[in-house]
Amino acid sequence: MHKIKKLWKKLKNKDENVKLLKWMLDIVKPYIKFIVYIFLISIVSMGISYVSTIIGKYVVDDATTGDVNFRDMSFMCITTIVSIIISVFSNILSSYINENFSFSIRKRLYNDIQRSVWIKVSKFHSGDLVTRLTSDIGGLADGLISILPSTILIIAQLLISFLILLYYDWQIAVFALVLGPIGAACMLFFRKKYKKYQMQFRESESEYRTFMQESLSDLTVVKTFRQEDANEATMEHMKQKRLNLVLHNSRLSSIMSAVMRLVYSAGYVVAFCWGSYRISTGDITYGTLTVFISLVSQVQGSVSGLAGLIPQIYSMLISAKRISEVTEIEKETYAGKEDIPGKVGLEVENVYFAYEDEFIVKDLNFSVKPGEKIGIVGPSGTGKTTMIRMLLALTKPQNGSINYILDGKKESASPDSRRFISYVPQGNTLKTGTIADNLRVGKSDATEDMMDKALKMASAKKFIEKLPKGLDTVLYEKSGGLSEGQAQRISIARALIGEKPMLILDEATSALDETTESVVLKNITEQFDSITCFIITHRRSMLQYCDKVIELDDDGRMKMKNLKEHFNK
Ligand SMILES: Nc1ncnc2c1ncn2[C@@H]1O[C@H](COP(=O)(O)OP(=O)(O)OP(=O)(O)O)[C@@H](O)[C@H]1O
Ligand SMILES: [Mg+2]
Repeated sequence: MHKIKKLWKKLKNKDENVKLLKWMLDIVKPYIKFIVYIFLISIVSMGISYVSTIIGKYVVDDATTGDVNFRDMSFMCITTIVSIIISVFSNILSSYINENFSFSIRKRLYNDIQRSVWIKVSKFHSGDLVTRLTSDIGGLADGLISILPSTILIIAQLLISFLILLYYDWQIAVFALVLGPIGAACMLFFRKKYKKYQMQFRESESEYRTFMQESLSDLTVVKTFRQEDANEATMEHMKQKRLNLVLHNSRLSSIMSAVMRLVYSAGYVVAFCWGSYRISTGDITYGTLTVFISLVSQVQGSVSGLAGLIPQIYSMLISAKRISEVTEIEKETYAGKEDIPGKVGLEVENVYFAYEDEFIVKDLNFSVKPGEKIGIVGPSGTGKTTMIRMLLALTKPQNGSINYILDGKKESASPDSRRFISYVPQGNTLKTGTIADNLRVGKSDATEDMMDKALKMASAKKFIEKLPKGLDTVLYEKSGGLSEGQAQRISIARALIGEKPMLILDEATSALDETTESVVLKNITEQFDSITCFIITHRRSMLQYCDKVIELDDDGRMKMKNLKEHFNK
């Protein structure tokens, strides 16, 4: 039974490998033309070096008969210069292709991440995703663009060297052939170890990037909790871990190339001795001996090149696997609806939702008429934000239905529903850039008048007017340069500017003083009479601006109450 399981696992892995190879082939397809160009250039350059080697034979042979062959000598010079020019050209071409290719996959992966189902992609840390988008894509591009042609080229080089040797002396060619399987066996022996090492290496990269990104993104936490020493110790620990990995790898590759070199050095000595013996018997010329020696050292160079490629190949495969893991995340499907309804109602029936095994929200049942303002209250962690995520179709309920009533027509909640919803998420969500840039996230073609109107409603106009650069004030990371409450008001303006028929405020005014909060909510509820609003708040006094209240209890169940009922409880 155990054996069957093992075999099944192996087979499954094979399937996975085939899938990975197909995936790589698919992404490299548009670039195959360029890779072939690089390959052909390398072939030409290789051919020139062989021609140069053979011309060398005639130069030496002429020299042994007392002739100085200037024609062949100058030919050797020309071939050397040509091969240098070709290599410059090939380097420029390959760096162009590498950048073009890696950025295209980066763009594709970035798009895939954006369009993945939120709940699934949110399980990856952003630091890990950035590592996959940068280092892994770099490794994959290097691999596909250079390793693949190099491997083929080296194998071709070995084959041509063998054929030339065969032409001049079959015994030495057969001897060189015996060395091939020895080299291959050596590589197979180290294969598994490399794979494991490469995986650990990439994981460690994700780990330290995640750590650095997180700690540097909020230095006030580092400073006020006096984490400097602890963080330094973590960095030291990571350094040691990586050093161990690098040492381990370097030991592996050194042993491998030493073994391979030993095998091929033996080959070199044998070629040298055999050649000398054949000169003594008069079977070959001095020139042929130089061809032997030059070819055997070329073979040696190819073999150590091949040995050096092994870790790179594994690095490429691991990167490919890590990238494909992200591309395989389920994508959201849009039906492409663009029509914005005038009025939005909502019907929620028997909704249950669990992130893992336990239901967070249970038995949600309520309906909302167009233009109604609904307050949502409940202790922290009871599922208020979770409920909003379902309305925005960021998560799907495991049971029940969520239907919007758009100008009287029913439409179930889906990613397309976001076209008519404005949302102010909990927490700081402004991006780096000017205030105007942030407002344009809400409406890409927003005019200054529209910005003015939205900012006035969000009670942000006055403080922005006081800023020397007004709307062009640049916000740094995490709204650096603004107070928390100011940033919240810009987030509200960003949502209002789109004038969508439904608005969700998830503790959007939590950092404001009570008076400003009242002004903002009053503005919104009075001026946006026909807009359906959900207002999540921990301040019960703010419910005066609502028509109804949904109360979530600790058990994740809800009660819909009208205001009187709520305040008289
Ligand atoms: N992405 C997630 N994966 C797993 N569990 C989650 C996730 N997000 C929230 N939860 C869990 O779901 C529960 C409800 O969280 P939610 O954010 O909806 O609460 P909330 O009512 O909005 O709280 P608060 O008032 O503090 O914002 C919590 O117990 C939380 O641990
Ligand atoms: Mg919340």
